[in-house]
Amino acid sequence: LGNGLANTPQMGWNSWNYFACDINEKVIKETANALISTGLAKLGYIYVNIDDCWSEASRDSEGQLIPDSKSFPSGIKDLADYVHSEGLKLGIYSDAGAFTCQKRPGSLKHEFDDAALFASWGVDYLKYDNCFNLGIEPEKRYPPMRDAINATGHTIFYSLCEWGVNDPALWAGKIGNSWRTTNDINDSWASLTETVDINDKWASYAGPGGWNDPDSLEVGNGGMTYQEYRAHFSIWALMKAPLLIGCDVRNMTAETFEIISNEEVIAVNQDALGVQGRKVFAYGPDGCYQIWAGPLSRHRLAVALWNRCSKIATITAKWAALGLESSNSVSVRDLWKKLKIEDYGLNIGDESG
Ligand code: DGJ
Repeated sequence: LGNGLANTPQMGWNSWNYFACDINEKVIKETANALISTGLAKLGYIYVNIDDCWSEASRDSEGQLIPDSKSFPSGIKDLADYVHSEGLKLGIYSDAGAFTCQKRPGSLKHEFDDAALFASWGVDYLKYDNCFNLGIEPEKRYPPMRDAINATGHTIFYSLCEWGVNDPALWAGKIGNSWRTTNDINDSWASLTETVDINDKWASYAGPGGWNDPDSLEVGNGGMTYQEYRAHFSIWALMKAPLLIGCDVRNMTAETFEIISNEEVIAVNQDALGVQGRKVFAYGPDGCYQIWAGPLSRHRLAVALWNRCSKIATITAKWAALGLESSNSVSVRDLWKKLKIEDYGLNIGDESG
């Protein structure tokens, strides 16, 4: 979407994966504080995004949405002011249907009122869900909210959450700044790999202004190992997926922080070229030894050797699979060890390697 946003994939935090409906203004403020105090905000994680369950179960007598009086008694404008005072941005959530997935009022047929309300609160980002959609095609339900946001005169990041229905990569580029390519992720290796494989199909449609969204991160939520979470973060970075942290950043482990704060991996995601990396080669049982790669600015390439088998393995990437000639001279850096490969004694000089 040509609204000047999303030149690189959005970075921040989203409440759903960890908190689901158990959110309130204290959690949001403490999360904003934690993004600052941990240094994550400085690394680019600037959006603090409230997901479903922030509003009352019905609109007020004038038909306006109202924040839940128990969990958000100070209102969303107060939160936006607070988050802005820390140099961060606030995201809100609604639904292109009659109700949100958790049965709060949806914005279908209320697009102009709701966009105006969000803008008046100073909201910077809208995630727009797909429940209770009355069987109307997403291609028809998502543009009215884009137009309504435009009409407010405020610049608001527009994140489509249509779950990949009707192949959004083919039509959403003019509607939103990102679009979900899949159903909801969950905190498991099976969900992660399935999500990645679907998102990969749409690689060629992503770029500055509009990104494929395979859902928020599960890193730090406890269902996967350290190595699995590192693979999760690496592949999200390489696929130019939104980096929206989905854990409780107020109480994360050192390992979780180490993964999501790796600035060299983040730099792959935020690279100015904006080309989604993809699976370039697979071999072994069920193709579980995989090579993923994508071009970066300044003649660089991001490469992930991804072992999806259940045993430790050595994965070999041939230069040709990466689009390189055997005569190319390359310098290789391991972004997790933060070392040039030669520094720890691997031979990268021969043609096969
Ligand atoms: C479905 C979406 O895909 C999720 O990301 C989340 O927003 C939930 N709905 C909230 O109900």
